Amino acid sequence: MKKPVTVTVTGAAGNIGYALLFRIASGSMLGEDQPVKLNLLEIPQAVKAAEGTAMELNDAAFPLLAGVDIYDDATKAFAGCNYGLLVGARPRTKGMERADLLAANGGIFGPQGKAINDNAADDIKVLVVGNPANTNAFIAAASAPDVPAERFTAMMRLDHNRALSQLAQKTDSQVTDIEKMIVWGNHSADQYPDVSFATVNGKPAVDLVDEAWLDDYFVPTVAKRGAAIIEARGASSAASAASAAVDHMRSWALGTPEGDWTTIAGPSHGEYGVPEGLVYGMPCTCANGEYTVVEGLELSDKTQAQIAKNAQAAQAEIDEVKKLGLL
Ligand code: NAD
Ligand code: LMR
Repeated sequence: MKKPVTVTVTGAAGNIGYALLFRIASGSMLGEDQPVKLNLLEIPQAVKAAEGTAMELNDAAFPLLAGVDIYDDATKAFAGCNYGLLVGARPRTKGMERADLLAANGGIFGPQGKAINDNAADDIKVLVVGNPANTNAFIAAASAPDVPAERFTAMMRLDHNRALSQLAQKTDSQVTDIEKMIVWGNHSADQYPDVSFATVNGKPAVDLVDEAWLDDYFVPTVAKRGAAIIEARGASSAASAASAAVDHMRSWALGTPEGDWTTIAGPSHGEYGVPEGLVYGMPCTCANGEYTVVEGLELSDKTQAQIAKNAQAAQAEIDEVKKLGLL
């Protein structure tokens, strides 16, 4: 058995937290030979609820669970942390865009970035889930100058999984038949789910579906799925978001399958014309605990235009954060 690693989950008493913690403790995220010590971070008013979740985690008698601690202080919650899942933030409600949450949530991620900078383990890997996730990851990274910026990622895996599911349903196949999906961008309504390089059972996806379906159904359905879930459930996605967070961290820690890639939003190095530093979803392969952007893809004019438009909107969120004094 390996030595336990410390996983810190913020917003542990929230809806995503409740769906996420049990999956991590079961070994779904880091493998069935990796014990985990869970640090739960909450605001003081929600500590009691987090205690209830911790009681249930213990009651589940997970063989891999090496302990659960609860904190309302980020400095302590991130001490020695190897994996940080930054979920704690307000969700949007009907009629809001995710960027509308900047003022409410942006202030959470600077102090947490600093707490990570000063207290986390050297190999810390961070996934930001709290919205607007890409911009919050940018804020956290900017507050952690001693941690390589690449270690701060934002979640585009839910969008990636939504895209897999839509294409699988349309082509009467399984999600496991599909390789090389991409969702470019910011986790916002102008993200660009892109099947240009995807295959279904080895056949190019673009030969199996027509352009009108892609433009009029696939892209808007994936990009606006978060709003559709809020409309239907009366609350934002939680179990699928938790599942995507598990998938994101698992790929990063344990690798992507040969011949496939996934979507991770990390700080751009200027790939595909995306301004340097923007936390932006791109196709990535993972191996040895590192993720690498798939470079050199020949993009159509349409894809390039979508990326440019979405990157501009993502940059506008950063400018707004600066105006709000959060950076
Ligand atoms: P929720 O309201 O059920 O839970 C949020 C929890 O965070 C609450 O328990 C709250 O007390 C806690 N919290 C607030 N501020 C905190 C802080 N400073 N430190 C620690 N904890 C804090 O919300 P939820 O449904 O779990 O969603 C959480 C966030 O995830 C929202 O911002 C939502 O929009 C986002 N989200 C992102 C994606 C994605 O794909 N990136 C998907 C779904 C939801
Ligand atoms: C989602 O995509 O389901 C989440 O980001 C929640 C939201 O506000 O859309």
